[in-house]
Amino acid sequence: MTTTASERSTTEVAREAGRRRTFAVISHPDAGKSTLTEALALHAAAISSAGAVHGKGDRRGVTSDWMEMEQDRGISITSAALRIDYSDRVLNLVDTPGHADFSEDTYRVLSAVDCAIMLLDSAKGLEPQTLKLFDVCRARRMPVITFVNKWDRPGREPLELLDEIEQRIGLRPTPLNWPVGIAGDFRGLIDRSSGTYTKMTRTPGGASKAVEQVLPAEDAARIEGQEWGQASEEIELLGEIGADFDHDSFMAGESSPVLFGAALPNFGVGQLLETIVGLAPAPTAKTGTRDEPRPVDAPFSGQVFKMQANMDKNHRDRMAFVRVSSGRFDRGMVLTHAATGRPFATKYSQAVFGSERSTIDTAFPGDVIALVNAQALSVGDTLYDGPKVEFPPIPSFAPEHFVVARAVDAGKYKQFQRGIAQLDAEGVVQVLTSDVRGEQAPVLAAVGPLQFDVVRHRMEHEFRSPIDTSPLDYSVARRTDTESAPALHALSGAEVLRRRNDGELLVLVHNKWRLRVIEREHPGLFMEPLLAGG
Ligand code: G4P
Repeated sequence: MTTTASERSTTEVAREAGRRRTFAVISHPDAGKSTLTEALALHAAAISSAGAVHGKGDRRGVTSDWMEMEQDRGISITSAALRIDYSDRVLNLVDTPGHADFSEDTYRVLSAVDCAIMLLDSAKGLEPQTLKLFDVCRARRMPVITFVNKWDRPGREPLELLDEIEQRIGLRPTPLNWPVGIAGDFRGLIDRSSGTYTKMTRTPGGASKAVEQVLPAEDAARIEGQEWGQASEEIELLGEIGADFDHDSFMAGESSPVLFGAALPNFGVGQLLETIVGLAPAPTAKTGTRDEPRPVDAPFSGQVFKMQANMDKNHRDRMAFVRVSSGRFDRGMVLTHAATGRPFATKYSQAVFGSERSTIDTAFPGDVIALVNAQALSVGDTLYDGPKVEFPPIPSFAPEHFVVARAVDAGKYKQFQRGIAQLDAEGVVQVLTSDVRGEQAPVLAAVGPLQFDVVRHRMEHEFRSPIDTSPLDYSVARRTDTESAPALHALSGAEVLRRRNDGELLVLVHNKWRLRVIEREHPGLFMEPLLAGG
């Protein structure tokens, strides 16, 4: 029996999808995300020396106009995808913006990945930004692998950290390895499934790789003495309380395999790579709005999860980051833009490595491609080839900060309008309007106030229309409908506005106490929470 070309390409796509692992790191600033990213890439030998990925501080490596832009603004506002080839697998690490503040971008990135690495600082445990991001993973029932970092420094007891994870976020930790020696006097790691011991020997020079020496248990017991004894007892305890890896609850986001290690001396990073390859799921069928699953080997489909403008100073372009859901992508393909039915040419597709661009010719499910000249696209849009598919929109997140924006110079109203429209399309902020307020003074809504700094900066430097912003005394937004809107609008401490990009009506309320009073005194008015993570 002979196989047709289309059958051959179907098998190729299924095989390539099966090789992909697409994930993001969720962490609080300073937990070591940049260091871990470098260590993963270094370990996988994707790059020749640590420090060539992120260019943080003096570890500047893969340089770019993005980085310069970030530095000009003093904040990290871009996200990139890093491809790491490792033992016949392709790992796509989709970067989350690294600033202490939140933007919707951070959440959106999580819609483009199949798994998250929750990175904790061994001395600090769960921190606020990690908790917020974890909530998004939980809402998506996304599998989470936990990496407890900085084990080479003084930190907390491993059992205490596990307890915190279980008690605070209800995620059942199942350690895959276990540290010998307390944090700060770290000797090595026991692999719980094989019982082998990896001894760590420090090397001078920080970011260079620590020497990992694998020893059988008997030798390790002799060398490490008392510390080995204590670790063995703790491992026994883990067995007794049933803290063993369980595939189904991991996939459902209910339990999390835990690894201890130290990214800076690159210790335990190999185990993390192996765990990602072995446990993180490969891309699977994604369901469209009409409930039709699009298998990975169906014709091409992908969804825009991030827009970025003007990354290249020489070309005033707009770039769309697309996560491939199904099929094979070949540069030059003409796809269909589901929202408009119009063709979209992909002559200028790019892969994004660190912050550097390179032209990409083919991509498969799980990969991230960047399309330039993407003026027509918005976050959440679907592109496809073959039979139509449209994926559900990426949920937007409940804004908690609101300002009124006005052009400083009324003569620049055109630039003002254009800039606000562009930032709205990119999802830098949500733009709300109402007849009462008028088009000249739209309300900008954000998850974190840093988003307003980005808007002010870009309005002045990119769109040549500096703006004034004045804060509004609201901190809660709920969805409402046309029937309830007039009654809500008439109440004190509440205001109804229309979200410009999708026409959704939102009611803004001073605070959650005022919201409760309204709910009690005016039952029946429609005020639905805006879901984080959806
Ligand atoms: P982030 O991207 O999550 O914000 O964190 P980053 O990697 O920049 O790491 C924050 C600090 O923690 C850095 O030190 C980094 O060297 C350190 N670090 C990361 N992983 C480990 C680890 O496993 N062990 C130890 N001991 N330190 C670790 P810094 O002094 O703030 O910056 P730098 O001057 O080293 O760049």
